[in-house]
Amino acid sequence: MAKKADIGLVGLAVMGENLVLNMESKGFTVAVYNRTVEKVDNFVNGRGAGKNFIGCKSIDELIENVAAPRKIMLMVKAGKPVDDFIDMIAPKLEKGDILIDGGNSHFPDTVRRTRKLEEMGLRYIGTGVSGGEEGALLGPSMMPGGSTTAWPEVKPIFQAICAKVEDGSPCCEWVGADGAGHFVKMVHNGIEYGDMEMICEAYNMMKNVLGMSAAEMHEVFKEWNAGELDSYLIEITQAILKTVDPETGKPVVDVILDTAGQKGTGKWTSESALDLGAPAPTIAEAVFARCLSAIKEERVAASKVLTGPAINFTGDKKEFIEDIRKALYASKICSYAQGYQLMKLAAKEYNWDLNYGEIALMWRGGCIIRARFLGDIKKAFDKNPALANLLMDDFFKKVIDDCQASWRKVVAQAALSGVPVPAFSSALNYYDAYRSEVLPANLLQAQRDYFGAHTYERVDRARGEFFHTAWTEHSGNTTSTTYIA
Ligand code: 2AM
Repeated sequence: MAKKADIGLVGLAVMGENLVLNMESKGFTVAVYNRTVEKVDNFVNGRGAGKNFIGCKSIDELIENVAAPRKIMLMVKAGKPVDDFIDMIAPKLEKGDILIDGGNSHFPDTVRRTRKLEEMGLRYIGTGVSGGEEGALLGPSMMPGGSTTAWPEVKPIFQAICAKVEDGSPCCEWVGADGAGHFVKMVHNGIEYGDMEMICEAYNMMKNVLGMSAAEMHEVFKEWNAGELDSYLIEITQAILKTVDPETGKPVVDVILDTAGQKGTGKWTSESALDLGAPAPTIAEAVFARCLSAIKEERVAASKVLTGPAINFTGDKKEFIEDIRKALYASKICSYAQGYQLMKLAAKEYNWDLNYGEIALMWRGGCIIRARFLGDIKKAFDKNPALANLLMDDFFKKVIDDCQASWRKVVAQAALSGVPVPAFSSALNYYDAYRSEVLPANLLQAQRDYFGAHTYERVDRARGEFFHTAWTEHSGNTTSTTYIA
């Protein structure tokens, strides 16, 4: 009898194809199937020719050709197609078999699917796969969660194909139960939104306040990429800025329309932050910045009517570029601090035992937010796994101390110049709010008690004791139930 496959895969679009080519290159035999079955032949006779693939023309054939306990991975469009395939495949599997979803699924769907498959005696994994098409082929960052007993079964395959950091550590570890993997992938994407927006704000300050050209900014980002900001996104930014449009001879970046698209993963992160009461304003600002960019026609009309200050920069240009670099670095730290706070609250809410250092390591290579500084985040959580906030780690505290004068200068200059920097300034506001012993919420509580008898706690009494003031002659003594709004 012919050798059975180590794993089966459904969905031969680019991500699926690249992932199975990666698996095969590491010595695994893969059975492949696609809804449009011609794609199976095209692949097996094309990019997969002469390699250890078993082309399957039906779900039955796929199941038959995978060794037990079967591992079948879906790389299909997120949403209904995943449920459709689960409904087609799961009833045909045997107890202990494992279904894996490697798409960009929303974590509540993964929670639901894990429960459903486990009730059927099967096992389920929802895994984040980041790094785009190239990552899938050469080594993605992988964030698997789901049925815990399934991890040892898929670990050898996942850790063989994933990205590795310099010391060889794999950028793939078990994240946690049910939707934990897809949740962490979602936060990765939210952080990615923040990183991209902050780089754009640095670019905008250089372009509009300092009047720099794309070629000049290319040199700056190239230099930044050799230092603390060393990361994939800075790397591609410097490459983008030197690319010339063959049609016009201008930098390509200058001929691209300034309206951002989005697929919704940043929105999911922000929604989740709101659901959990997690302060993640910088990630949300990055989503809103894309929304604002998208209303181009309104902005064009407004630009002709609404006024702002004239840009008048009189400082030292070289010094200010360094200030911008520091503003970017400090803002980035705050954005990650928010992402980690969100994960902490989610872990509590959904009963996940998240290892924050491992998560930093998973993001260290392969994915879009890969960066040298994730190594520092890993060190911070290794040193103190219960770290309340990244800002409280010695290393990051020192970085912020070193950067904050520049950061404040950049945000102030942006405001004086009328150049929007929503992520830089929201990160700075987050920092200043987080380090505030006293915030003005005392007045807010008074307002709530005034109009709604919502009660308040007092500075001179124990927490948990609630008081009400008869603010006006009409106030009664009846208080409304205290709740957290
Ligand atoms: P297709 O090649 O038959 O279109 C990425 O789009 C992958 O998801 C492809 O393998 C694609 O299959 C599959 N896919 C997209 N929409 C689907 C649907 N509604 N049902 C099943 N598979 C789908």
